[in-house]
Amino acid sequence: MLTRLAMVGRAMSRTPLVQLRHDQLDLFAKLEYANPNGSSKDRSAYWILRRAVERGEITEGTTIVESSSGNFAISLASFCRWLGLAFIPVIDPNVNASTEAYLRQLCDRVEKVTESDDAGGYLSSRLDRVHELRTELPLAYWPNQYANPDAIEAHDKLTGAELCADLQHIDYLFVGVSTGGTIAGLSSRVKRVHPEARIIAVDAEGSVIFGGPPAKRRLPGLGSSIVPPLVGKAHIDDVVMVSEVDAVRGCNHLFERHGLYAGGSTGSVYAAIERYFAGYSGPRLTVAFLCADRGTGYTDTVYHPEWVARFVAEHNHGQSVALV
Ligand SMILES: Cc1ncc(COP(=O)(O)O)c(C=O)c1O
Repeated sequence: MLTRLAMVGRAMSRTPLVQLRHDQLDLFAKLEYANPNGSSKDRSAYWILRRAVERGEITEGTTIVESSSGNFAISLASFCRWLGLAFIPVIDPNVNASTEAYLRQLCDRVEKVTESDDAGGYLSSRLDRVHELRTELPLAYWPNQYANPDAIEAHDKLTGAELCADLQHIDYLFVGVSTGGTIAGLSSRVKRVHPEARIIAVDAEGSVIFGGPPAKRRLPGLGSSIVPPLVGKAHIDDVVMVSEVDAVRGCNHLFERHGLYAGGSTGSVYAAIERYFAGYSGPRLTVAFLCADRGTGYTDTVYHPEWVARFVAEHNHGQSVALV
């Protein structure tokens, strides 16, 4: 197991940091979609598995069980294959078709819940199913991405360390939030190395993480229908809430201006940066953000002209609005 784990570790090479053209800012994007399974969730999946193996909580014959309909499930499915471990993802109807097909190919068993919870999401139903599976299976390990401190350590020791090694100075770091693992880990490293840096959390309208009212959200990646305990460990200076329409707009702007084809959460973060510094004309600031995943999982939604037209019209009560 340790040899196979070392192989996974070697596949986790440093992700690139690129500077984007900008009139007012020194703007840097860390391309987390260059991770082996295409997202920043490789960091936490690898680190959580590694720590659990080191502690003896995962051994040959352990089945990994986790609630995720997205990138974390993709990372776990792939790494569990490498490690020779069974993995049962618990997914919900919001999963995108290509992710579900991929998970069904990689995992012998996929559990799909169908009942939504009081907040209109599926998180509670998924967690209930995880708990049932843990009692059913003789040797089960639940990474619990919403509360596992190893996810914080992953982004401190891996993503955060790389970012701080690449940038001599950081004024602002914008980070999308769902479980809070990324922002908790990154903020702790960045504040240690660059105490002057301001950490801006970006969340989706309809998410309850920062106290807003719950509402239906359609784009995966950002937001949560619970307040995840890891968020309380993050050093956050400010919060920007972004609508899904602005997330779509952010994705399209990022692609048209910089050629970066990123997923919905990155679009939200880019939209948050645009809004935060609109009209700014002071000295140049160093601003960094992550491209958390690729746009290829969003070709039927964020990057599909007809889907976007319908989506924008719905959000604007039947009136279409230009995105660019
Ligand atoms: C694409 C993407 N961006 C951002 C996030 C938020 O990261 P975290 O869960 O560490 O808060 C996620 C989480 O699933 C994600 O998949």
